[in-house]
Amino acid sequence: MTTSLFQPITLGGLSFPNRIAVAPMCQYSAEDGSASDWHLHHWMNLAMSGAGMVTVEMTDVERRGRITHGCLGLYSDDNEAAARRTLDAARRVAPPGTKFGSQLAHAGRKASNRRPWEGGGPLAADQDPWPVVSASAIAYDTGWQVPQALEDGEVLQLIERFAEAARRAERAGFDFIELHAAHGYLIFQFLSPLSNQRTDRWGGSLENRMRFVVEITKAVRKAVPGLMLGARLSVKEWVDGGFDVEDAIEVAKALKAEGIAYLCCSSGGNSPLQQLPSGPGYQVHLAEAVRKGADIPTRAVGLIDDPQQAEMIIADGRADMVALARAFLADPRWGWRAAATFGEEIHPAPQLARSVTTMRHWIKAAG
Ligand SMILES: Cc1cc2nc3c(=O)[nH]c(=O)nc-3n(C[C@H](O)[C@H](O)[C@H](O)COP(=O)(O)O)c2cc1C
Repeated sequence: MTTSLFQPITLGGLSFPNRIAVAPMCQYSAEDGSASDWHLHHWMNLAMSGAGMVTVEMTDVERRGRITHGCLGLYSDDNEAAARRTLDAARRVAPPGTKFGSQLAHAGRKASNRRPWEGGGPLAADQDPWPVVSASAIAYDTGWQVPQALEDGEVLQLIERFAEAARRAERAGFDFIELHAAHGYLIFQFLSPLSNQRTDRWGGSLENRMRFVVEITKAVRKAVPGLMLGARLSVKEWVDGGFDVEDAIEVAKALKAEGIAYLCCSSGGNSPLQQLPSGPGYQVHLAEAVRKGADIPTRAVGLIDDPQQAEMIIADGRADMVALARAFLADPRWGWRAAATFGEEIHPAPQLARSVTTMRHWIKAAG
């Protein structure tokens, strides 16, 4: 009998061979937004992970929307050509049915930062910083830039940038697009009443605060009607008075009505004051609540790293897919390991086929 984790799923007309996703992960290794040799290695590696869904990293729709100088973008012809080249290579080694998605984003007030391994935090004056923008002129933290609040016309221009980047993603060969409405980046800065204190049509009521993401969804849907469209949302801000589960359910309903086919349920990232209770599967209840409340397929994420744990999340109907980030960095063959755990078929590239008996041996030895 096929385990729940290895049941295929179709989202927005796009079929995935199993319920395992590689979560998007910034590599901070791009050159002016273009994928580099590091990405070639990384995407090819993830293509052979056994995950049916590979969501590559946060990809910014304009240069000033990058978190760091090394962030990936889809704002130039060079970016598009590099993404196409890199994706073509990944596809050549991926088992049939593997689908690749681009996570479109804008960092807003969290842009112009150092890479994590350079210490993170805002770029200093001698590190080529750039001015940042947001819903309101409220800094993320003390010592961070106070963003310039976007004018109405600039908001509309940014919505069009998402649509342009989506067209580039389609031409580069991606199968689906994920809108990044999580982790305190620009879309979430509009959603949260803490970072959005506008009094125009983009702020105030939840309906107004979600207008930015709803309009982006409409514009992207129109720009690339052939691509499946999903989104990642911080379902809970973990700050008193912040965006919370009931708000997320309303946003999920609105996005579903605009054609969003799945919601990846993450949390936090908009405030250094957040009280985020980390632990195994710490966000699964959020995926469950949104799935029930908005009747939309959800992807659970956050400290899911054990095949049995992942299987139970799907089998118990708490989410429709699971996404793993750090586990795939630690073990780029995690999907094979899950398959071996449950006696499911493994589809290695022929060059790697002889590793399968070793994998099975390890699973057996671990009991
Ligand atoms: C190196 C790294 C880069 C990340 N970059 C992104 C990103 O580009 N977009 C995003 O939505 N989340 C990003 N995340 C968050 C992960 O997708 C994931 O939600 C988080 O790590 C929790 O999952 P995990 O416990 O399986 O690692 C990143 C995480 C890591 C470790």
